[in-house]
Order: sequence, then structure tokens, then C-alpha cells
Amino acid sequence: MLALVLLVFCLVETDSAVDSYVAAVYEHRVILNPDPRVPVSRRDALIHMQKNLDIYEEQAARAALQGAQILVFPEDGIHGFNFTRSSISGYLETIPDPEQESWNPCTEPGRYNNTEVLQRLSCMARRHNLYLVANMPDLQPCPMKTAPSSCPPDGRWQFNTNVAFSSDGLLVARYHKQNLYFEESFDTPPKLEVITFDTPFAGKFGLIICFDILFHDPTVALVKMGVRQLIFPTAWMNALPLLDSIQFHRAFSLGANVTVLSANTRNDRLIMTGSGIFTPFSATFHHALKDDPEGGRLLVARVPVLDPMVVDDVAESTSSVPTESAYCNKESCAASSSPHSSYPTFTAFMMHDPFKFVLINETEGNLTVCDGTFCCHLQYKWIAHDERKELYALGAFAGLHTVNGRYALQVCAAVRCAGLEASSCGQEVEEAESKMDFLLEATFQTEYVYPSVLVNRMVLEQPEKLEKAAGGRVAMKHSKLSGGLITACLYGRMYHLDNE
Ligand SMILES: *[C@@H]1O[C@H](CO)[C@@H](O)[C@H](O)[C@H]1NC(C)=O
Ligand SMILES: *[C@@H]1O[C@H](CO)[C@@H](O)[C@H](O)[C@H]1NC(C)=O
Ligand SMILES: *[C@@H]1O[C@H](CO)[C@@H](O)[C@H](O)[C@H]1NC(C)=O
Ligand SMILES: *[C@@H]1O[C@H](CO)[C@@H](O)[C@H](O)[C@H]1NC(C)=O
Ligand SMILES: *[C@@H]1O[C@H](CO)[C@@H](O)[C@H](O)[C@H]1NC(C)=O
Repeated sequence: MLALVLLVFCLVETDSAVDSYVAAVYEHRVILNPDPRVPVSRRDALIHMQKNLDIYEEQAARAALQGAQILVFPEDGIHGFNFTRSSISGYLETIPDPEQESWNPCTEPGRYNNTEVLQRLSCMARRHNLYLVANMPDLQPCPMKTAPSSCPPDGRWQFNTNVAFSSDGLLVARYHKQNLYFEESFDTPPKLEVITFDTPFAGKFGLIICFDILFHDPTVALVKMGVRQLIFPTAWMNALPLLDSIQFHRAFSLGANVTVLSANTRNDRLIMTGSGIFTPFSATFHHALKDDPEGGRLLVARVPVLDPMVVDDVAESTSSVPTESAYCNKESCAASSSPHSSYPTFTAFMMHDPFKFVLINETEGNLTVCDGTFCCHLQYKWIAHDERKELYALGAFAGLHTVNGRYALQVCAAVRCAGLEASSCGQEVEEAESKMDFLLEATFQTEYVYPSVLVNRMVLEQPEKLEKAAGGRVAMKHSKLSGGLITACLYGRMYHLDNE
């Protein structure tokens, strides 16, 4: 496409004529095995898991009372975490493949032994008449029928798994997590699984788990297939200023124009909280703060059905030719005539990556900061700001993130620094009082850009206006912040460079 196509999506209330459904997610404070590295009998594992399932049962009843048609529980919510490959044994069930056979564990409990958890979840879905998605560990014998291949050395597969049940208890989908995050008890599936299931009230849902949301497969693969509704059990460890749970999950929903039903676990020691029902038009979310009591939280919201969208498989390489940017391109960046871009640039680490920063310290202005050829531009005007109390900076990073996962990025972000020293920019901060009206923009060499605005005490704002132009330019305009700015961010994922 040669012409400059401007896609402006105004974020307005959805048409009430649009079909809708009621979704629920439950943030669960998992009752943990205090000694997960010590093997337990099947009997003891069941006694432990039934305690979490008792809470699920209560929440399913509450969700049903509020009209929920689908309910999502978090990753690791039934068994917990930190098992070894052998200590998790008592917790494993062998989950039949719903693509191979049709099984309702509630009405046909005798078909397989050792499926108490599946039976209980299936009966829960059936009793409360809702679709239910939960996460549990799966044991598959080697070789797997569907994916003959090498076996793990101990001769069995163990997977971090989502299971989905229809409202009459039928097991309708099984998904094995592709992108593990230091999970020694689990294997990566021998073959990528791109799994969806159909519902009568909202069509297709795709299944992903936690770390998957940062990668192309299966998450973006699902979106490219036109799947617009993703189910996302997670055990997300929050990482400000860019990857707090609700911040990134909401950003993904906006950037990919999809709904994300995100159920996190709650665990203060591991900094896990933040769940939400995110659509391109709305966000219903919960994020606990430091001194909140450590408990669960049910969220229920009516949301629009998103019709399948056929997404052009735009070859990423076609967009990797940098096109002209209004503010900065390779040659003009350093030698820009704007007096503002001559402000000193400094390097500070944000999320372990060396960002180039400039301070945002005048009453208003235009700033540009570049990391190599990738430039980030901010047009801003402070509405409330006391520079003696709060310091802000504009940062750019283009490169491969390599700590706790490998992923290629182009990030443009305005952040509140943790202190009054430039070296504190990029560090974690949860509170702020300063407010600005702004336009944040950059030209990305990827079409996958996830926008977010996070304000004081973990509140999300819906950006007033987002623009995506051909050539990779993305602009986010926002004003009238409801709280002090923590982070405004355009998070670009260069999936095609992850393995370079
Ligand atoms: C897992 O176990 C290790 C070592 O026993 C411990 O340091 C870590 O905090 C535990 N993590 C979780 C998720 O409980
Ligand atoms: C379940 O286990 C019992 C006792 O070990 C055995 O008799 C029965 O055949 C098993 N049933 C199935 C379906 O495997
Ligand atoms: C996002 O989805 C909505 C609802 O399906 C659609 O109307 C809109 O055109 C989409 N926006 C973009 C930028 O694709
Ligand atoms: C803003 O910071 C720059 C250094 O980065 C400094 O040169 C400039 O004088 C500061 N402006 C104000 C208004 O403090
Ligand atoms: C910033 O740039 C915009 C667009 O080029 C211009 O209209 C505005 O006057 C500039 N603002 C400042 C404070 O330089």
C-alpha cells in the first residue's frame, strides 16, 4: 500500500445493538502446598486441590448469580507452583484430547481413573450453567498420539494446561502452554498448539497462558486467524514501569483490538495481582495495592461480542523499511534544528534494558529521544507538576531484551522517575501527582505496538485517541488524566527478531 492510510479508532461507547455477553474472571489467592518440592501421595494432593476447588465452587455460584456466561480462573490456581518434575506427580491427571474424543467428565466419571479435578470442574460448569476455563497440570504418555516425537528422559510429558468446559460440562478444549517461564515441572509441547473453542453466545475464544502473551506463538497466531477473544489465565509477577499486569494486558487488548479475559493469581510475596476484562472499548479491572488484605476478587462485566476479523498477513519485512517520520529519521535525528533535541541524553536501565532518556522538565515542549535510529517523540504540557517533588523522563529503547526471556523491542515511554536523580528514571514507582496533556509518538518497524496509560495507584486510562498510519507511525494522544502519570507507553514487539 503506497498511500498513507490513517486508521483512527475513536474509543467510544459501543453500539447497544451489538451482541454482548457477560464474562467473569476470578483473581484467586491460591492455597499453596507449603512444601512443593516434596512429593505427596495422590490422596494428599487431592485434599490440597479440593481446598482451592471449594473456593472456585463458591465463585462460580457468585458469577452465575451475576449472569456470567463464561468464567476464567488463573494459572496454577488449583495446585500452586514451585514443584519439581517429580514432586508434582500426585497432582497430575491425564487429560484426554477433546479434538479426538468427546467426554463429559461430570456425566461420565467412570471413563477414566484419576480425573477427580476434571470431574469437579466439569460438574461446576454444568451446575452453574456457564463456560468455565481453569488451569491444571496434565500428564501425557510418550509418545503422544497427536505429536509423535522424542520423549523427555523420564518417558512422560508434563504440561501446564488450560481446560475449557461448556455449560453442560463437556470438555471442549485443552491447551498446553508454549512459552514456559522457569517451570521445571513442565515440558514445552512437542508441537505448537493453537487452540480455540466455540460458544453459542460469543463465537470463538482462543486459549493462552501467562508468558505466552509476550510472544508471537500462539497469541499473535490466534489473532491473525481472526480470533478476537482471548482467555488468559496467568500468574503474572508485576514489573513496573512497563510490564505491570493490567498495564500490559490492557495494552495488548488495545493494540491487537481484541478482548482479553485475564485472571491473575494473588500472591503478595511474588508480587502477583491485577486481573481484568479488557475489550478494545472498556476495561474492568482489579489491582491490589501494597496494604490491601490478601484475598481473591471476582470481576464480572457485560462486553460486546467481537466479530472475527480477517487480518491481512502483512509480511513484517515490508514494514521494516523505515519510512519518513514527522519528527525524526535516521539522518535528521542527531542534527535536528529543534533546540529541544539538544538536551542532554542519558542512559538508565528500565526493565534491565539500557534506555536513552531525556528529562521532561519544562512547563511544556516538544522532546525527541532516539536509541539508534528508533526515535520517540513527546509533545507535552504540564497541568500539574512540582519539579521539586517529581521528576519525569522520556525514554527510547530498540533492541533485544535478554533478562528472564528473550524478546526484541522498540519501546517509547514517558515515565515518572523513582527519585529526583536522573539515574532513578526507569525504576519502579506506583504513585504520582503530576499531570500532563500529551501526544506520544514513534515510527515503529513493526505493526505490533501495544499502548498504555497508567496513573497513580495502578489505575488505567483509556487513551483519548490512537492513530496508526501505514509506515509504522503510531501516535497516542491523551489529556485530562484522572491521576498523576506513572507511565505512558507505546510498547512495540519485533517478533521477527526474537531469534536473532
Ligand atoms: C520456590 O523455591 C525456591 C527455593 O526453594 C524459593 O527461593 C522461591 O521463592 C520459591 N518460589 C515460589 C514461587 O514459591
Ligand atoms: C480404574 O482403576 C480400577 C482399580 O485399579 C480398575 O479396576 C479399573 O479397571 C480402572 N478403570 C479404568 C477405566 O481404567
Ligand atoms: C477494532 O474492532 C472494532 C470492533 O470489531 C472495529 O469496529 C474497528 O474497526 C477495529 N479497529 C481497527 C483499527 O482495526
Ligand atoms: C531541564 O534539564 C536540562 C538537562 O537535561 C537542563 O539543561 C535544563 O536547564 C532543564 N530545564 C529546566 C527548566 O529545569
Ligand atoms: C511542538 O510542536 C508542535 C507541532 O510541530 C507545534 O505546533 C508546537 O508549537 C510545539 N510546541 C512547543 C512548545 O514548541
